[in-house]
Amino acid sequence: MKPSCFPARLALFAFALCSLSALTLPAQGQRRGAPEPPTGPWKNTSLSPDERADLVLKEMTLDEKIALIHGVGMPTDDPVTPENAPSNRGVGYAVGVPRLGIPGIDMSDAAYGVRSSGANGRYSTALPANVAAAASWDTDAAYEYGALIGRELRAQGYNMSLGGGVDITREPRNGRTFEYLGEDPILAGTLVARLIEGTQSAHVIGDIKHYAFNDQESGRTSGDAAIDHRAAHESDLLAFEIGVAKGHPAAVMCSYNRVNGDYACENKWLLTDVLKKDWQFPGFVLSDWGGTHSTEKASAAGLDNEQPGKFFYSDKYKEAVEAGRIPMAELDEHVHRILRSMFAAGVVDYPRQRSVVDPFAGFEVSRKVEEGGIVLLKNERGALPIDATKVRSIVVIGAHSDVGMISGGGSAQVDPIGGNAIAPPGKGATRWQNQIWFPTSPLKAITERAANAKVTFDPGVDPDAAAAAAKGADVAVVFAYQWESEGMDLPSLALPKYKNGDTEVDQEAIVAAVAKANPHTIVVLETGSPVTMPWVDAPAAILEAWYSGSDGASALGNVLFGTVNPSGKLPNTFPRADADLPHPTISKPTVTHFDNAASQEERAKGLPAFPVSYDEGLKVGYKWYDAENKPVLFPFGYGLSYTTFGYSGLSVTPGDTVKVTFTLANTGAREGKEIAEIYAALPASAQEPPKRLVGFSKVKLGPNETKQVTVEIDRKYLSIWDEAKNVWSLLPGEYTFLVGGSSDKLPLKATVSLQ
Ligand code: BGC
Repeated sequence: MKPSCFPARLALFAFALCSLSALTLPAQGQRRGAPEPPTGPWKNTSLSPDERADLVLKEMTLDEKIALIHGVGMPTDDPVTPENAPSNRGVGYAVGVPRLGIPGIDMSDAAYGVRSSGANGRYSTALPANVAAAASWDTDAAYEYGALIGRELRAQGYNMSLGGGVDITREPRNGRTFEYLGEDPILAGTLVARLIEGTQSAHVIGDIKHYAFNDQESGRTSGDAAIDHRAAHESDLLAFEIGVAKGHPAAVMCSYNRVNGDYACENKWLLTDVLKKDWQFPGFVLSDWGGTHSTEKASAAGLDNEQPGKFFYSDKYKEAVEAGRIPMAELDEHVHRILRSMFAAGVVDYPRQRSVVDPFAGFEVSRKVEEGGIVLLKNERGALPIDATKVRSIVVIGAHSDVGMISGGGSAQVDPIGGNAIAPPGKGATRWQNQIWFPTSPLKAITERAANAKVTFDPGVDPDAAAAAAKGADVAVVFAYQWESEGMDLPSLALPKYKNGDTEVDQEAIVAAVAKANPHTIVVLETGSPVTMPWVDAPAAILEAWYSGSDGASALGNVLFGTVNPSGKLPNTFPRADADLPHPTISKPTVTHFDNAASQEERAKGLPAFPVSYDEGLKVGYKWYDAENKPVLFPFGYGLSYTTFGYSGLSVTPGDTVKVTFTLANTGAREGKEIAEIYAALPASAQEPPKRLVGFSKVKLGPNETKQVTVEIDRKYLSIWDEAKNVWSLLPGEYTFLVGGSSDKLPLKATVSLQ
């Protein structure tokens, strides 16, 4: 390896050279004069991943086994060492077993695209935030989303993704809401499974995370989530259960927090009883970064791999094995799981190999996911779509919409190609918790589509100036944003005020002033979480565009001008006020830092626990508002289209799965896609919230077209968790199925008896 390829953060030019030389070298093992790659009976692809893993395991020394169960730091930030030198400078690396031809595990964060790409002089597509993909309710789009991430990881030289976030939106102010897939476990679980299938199709290890109940960021490393087992299984755990069963992720990342007393990464109930025994998860569990807190306890509980370092799972682990405190069989079990997952995902048979990323393909996938995920929340007075042949003047206002669109921060952050749109040239590097705006310009996208109009821009800093700019224009499009990131929670769901130089910008006041000045005002929201809207009645139209990815402005332009008919629906309820949430204020820790005198050992063991009560239990999201009879601003599953849909002819056929059949009609003159939602009300004896989502289908219909739709419902989705027997149980009784286009508008109803 040329020394000029390191350290990680050299100038872009040096890295272009570095990548180029990697590209022009023959594939590993084929270099002229190089020794043949190590081989052995485990290379036989007709054997199962488990058989192959056992064959490798038999050959391994104790040191080799130990080397596989921990990381070697964070190559992104650390200097080059002999251990991390073969890595791709991602956020984690496990060294593999080079002597036996088992490659290192080279990990990159990849929630909505490959992280640390710009910093490493490489290209990476930013998809819309995961919550936008959830809003598409589109299982094929979820697969494409994951497949793009897998392809780009592989092209960049990684073989493991740290994506697949599926903690459900129990606390919508959670700063990572944008990284997750909404408040419903069946929707989130179904989508994460497809995402993982997509990622792993590129021979990259996929993971789902953060297991479990990491539903807020405040005090995430010390909070102790208290929840009873029934509520746990029927809410957050169900999303993971579906993800594991249907997506077959090779890995699961345990979370930072404690659950019912024990850290998630040393929680026997979570890791062994539920994940490995009940769900039969054959893969490996790795800790969140710094989320390991013990050796013997974590190992016995089921943690297979410590990341990113080796505080508990290296020398201490070896000593514990040699002293007989950890049986060799327990270590072998961890090693077996890691190896079998490497074989199952294909990282041994298809060694990581850099190639050129296709940015055009990336932009197209990204744009399509966004087009399917934008949610039309309000559309009055025919405000949308904008008629490009008639409109003569448009004013675009606020939220840097002249140059870019915001993205979600933290370890999910993807580096924008071309740098941060609002930073001076050359100052575009992404830093932890910087607000990063992608250089995808709504102003440009609107101007390109409005050939006959004069399009002007106002920065949306002063309400009077914005109102004056909007007055008299045919259309005013006002942008507002709410930025969020890992490592923080939102203080409120209200649109935040922000600083522009010395001026404090009051976004709510801007929206209200513009809408008052112009009856044809369209509000575009760029948010990861739901937004409260005291101003909701004022504008003619509202679009939720989420964090829209590399080509967000094109997708938005296509929806604004009707080239694309919006078809997204909310994966999270938009409440009227913070006060309506199960917990009006987020619980916060009292101790947030270690004492200066704290030893490394004390720090590794973690901060004192503080209680995070999840006493709303399984009443997450719409289940809470339904059960508490609280009106909401926009309900779960809600979203408008430029056409209209009709539902009729419901029939429900019990069986091994329950078949729900109905007729869906496009009753308008424009092609569109409808997300048909199926809910079930369980028998009263189940003591459940009024209804739960049990199935859905996204259907494309031409103008006036009618289709018969059948959705098969897994009986587990109609069951409750029997805490005494520790199983899912379908209670005999009357089940009412409700079908329609939003959780609050379900015109079809049929009751059947299920045994
Ligand atoms: C995050 C994980 C991430 C890891 C590595 C942690 O802080 O919680 O989601 O994968 O860092 O960057």
